[in-house]
Amino acid sequence: MKLENIKEFAKSIIGDDVTGHDWRHALRVEANAKKISSTELATEDIEIIRASCWLHDTIDAKISDEKRASIQDVEQVLRENGATERQTEEILYIIQNLSYSKNIDQKQKLNQNGQIVQDADRLDALGAIGTARAFYYGGSKKHLIYDDTRPRKAEDITEENYREQYSVVNHFFEKLLILKDCMNTKKGREMAEHRTEFMKQFLDELFDEIKEANN
Ligand code: ADP
Ligand code: NI
Repeated sequence: MKLENIKEFAKSIIGDDVTGHDWRHALRVEANAKKISSTELATEDIEIIRASCWLHDTIDAKISDEKRASIQDVEQVLRENGATERQTEEILYIIQNLSYSKNIDQKQKLNQNGQIVQDADRLDALGAIGTARAFYYGGSKKHLIYDDTRPRKAEDITEENYREQYSVVNHFFEKLLILKDCMNTKKGREMAEHRTEFMKQFLDELFDEIKEANN
């Protein structure tokens, strides 16, 4: 595969998105994937993983208004840049099935490459960077930082109501603190646990600082 061209294409689509899904997110996902992959991966698998990391948000509703057209664009770019039929299919399957929202109502089956990309993407939702992204995303969607009057539990979320407006702090409880229990790989789980500890510490400090302002 002509990876450089695929990379340039992905960068041209997500570029400087202002919801936390900009090109640097794709690069961090790629770096996470490298960290959690075993050293014995075949070159072909590494290429599929890297391309999926770069492309995974180009078809997402947060970036694209026309999901079907975006999928076709990715398909064309892959074919034009030397991906075989099988590689194209695998990458398209991974990027259409890894997202959190796609896995709420029913868990999607992913092969080893897909599981690595999914863990790598989830890791970027955790820790210091995940915390920064959550507030950044919330701000871009005009969500409140916190709101004691509208808590929502993880078990009450569906694919349908996932994007409804709740506070960013609530998002930690409905998703971010739970993600560590959904990791596919051992290394991914270890990193997720470390990042979750940081988020808990952050929330403890936050609640401590704001508690006197309640009521
Ligand atoms: P996926 O693409 O896997 O479905 P999302 O688009 O929900 O996942 O999340 C990507 C990142 O966007 C999250 O990790 C988080 O940082 C941010 N995000 C998504 N929804 C919210 C929300 N309601 N409040 C705050 N941040 C959010
Ligand atoms: Ni992502």
